[in-house]
Amino acid sequence: MQQGRDGFSSRFGVIAAAAGSAIGLGNIWRFPYVLGENGGGAFFLVYMAFILLLGIPLMLTEMSIGRAGQRNPYGTFRFLAPKTKWYLVGVMGVAAAFLILSFYSAVAGWTLQYLYDAIFNNFAGKSSSELFGMFTNFTSGVYTPSIWTLVFLMMTGLVVVAGVEKGIEKYAKILMPMLFVIIIILDIRAITLDGAKEGLEFLFKPDFSKLDSKAVLEALGQSFFSLSLGMGTMITYGSYINKKEKLFSSATSVSIADTLIAVLAGVAIFPAVFAFGIEPDSGPGLVFITLPNVFQQMPGGYVFSVLFFFLLVIAALTSSISLLEVVVSYFTEELKLTRAKATIVAFAGVGVFGVLCSLSSGPLKDFHLLGFTIFDLFDYTSSNILLPVAGLLIVLFAGWKWKRMSVASEVLGEGIKENMLFKIFMFIIKFIAPFAITLVFLNAVGLLKL
Ligand code: PHE
Repeated sequence: MQQGRDGFSSRFGVIAAAAGSAIGLGNIWRFPYVLGENGGGAFFLVYMAFILLLGIPLMLTEMSIGRAGQRNPYGTFRFLAPKTKWYLVGVMGVAAAFLILSFYSAVAGWTLQYLYDAIFNNFAGKSSSELFGMFTNFTSGVYTPSIWTLVFLMMTGLVVVAGVEKGIEKYAKILMPMLFVIIIILDIRAITLDGAKEGLEFLFKPDFSKLDSKAVLEALGQSFFSLSLGMGTMITYGSYINKKEKLFSSATSVSIADTLIAVLAGVAIFPAVFAFGIEPDSGPGLVFITLPNVFQQMPGGYVFSVLFFFLLVIAALTSSISLLEVVVSYFTEELKLTRAKATIVAFAGVGVFGVLCSLSSGPLKDFHLLGFTIFDLFDYTSSNILLPVAGLLIVLFAGWKWKRMSVASEVLGEGIKENMLFKIFMFIIKFIAPFAITLVFLNAVGLLKL
């Protein structure tokens, strides 16, 4: 353990911070619309299978690597595999964090605007097409979305600059329980609406005729993104976990919490969508266009819309904190900057790219690099290339390069004999995960058509 290194102070702090990273726009904004576009219940079952089979083992692997390394992702690989090229995995992680944070903060900026609109009751009396216009007008603007992006990044920076225990952990311990309470309130509202049954059936009744190979692969990608895997976040957070903590139970609790929140988000959204006769497959606009429409037709809609957008802001914030921390830990440990300087430099860098991502829905809409807008380029290279490739390398590292004994001593505890669960875990890490991730990756980049 590095002397005087900041870290999480309690078990609840570990779970709250890691669940804070995992639970984000991926659960509340992305999961419902991806599920909606891929037919509902059957997609959900496949998603759950991936979480169990690949998500939990990969999270456990990342936390173990991080805790063994006691450093940022780059430093960790340098330390665990000196004189090799494995540190490039860490470099990819830091790069992915930078790119994801850029487009993530653009969308998070939208959530701030929508919270503002909800508070000032700006959805009231608007027709669906007016709400659609509201969304496109806003996102295609220059100043307002850019400013919200920067405000959001500033909020993220203020938490990160305060440190791991006094910033990240402290806020996660306050915000995560709050998020949980809000989503339960929203769920109670949703299931007591007339006509809620149809929405719940859509979510839970599997119709396998709607399941194609594209949906299966989407489910895998969604599960990685949602659990914050394949890019060093869980390596970084793992490095702050105390040696006494049981990583198996941390990784499992965080994955269960993440999946539960995705389900609860679905339960909050689909009954309302069906009760008001709206199509469930309305894509990325589901939360920003469809829901304001639902809220204003629903009794008590004002309060519920404020709560909902507040929920989105919290969810986005605890995730962006973890992304910024990956970059900041790299700057402080490798470039020897103070935490304050590191945060400012990262803020400035991500700020520029975040604004460029935000302008991609407006003035830079027609500016294309390699056929993508800046927003889509960042999203595509990070989600479809960096995450799967780094995720693959991480399991290969733990399965084939790292000593089995070292893996066991992190996963099970020092000197504890291998049990059945550990053997299954190793089999997944060595064989199943590399194969499955390769498949998704090749499909995502179009080298293999399933
Ligand atoms: N897991 C977060 C979400 O669901 C996004 C994220 C991805 C955060 C990767 C950190 C790292 O929104």
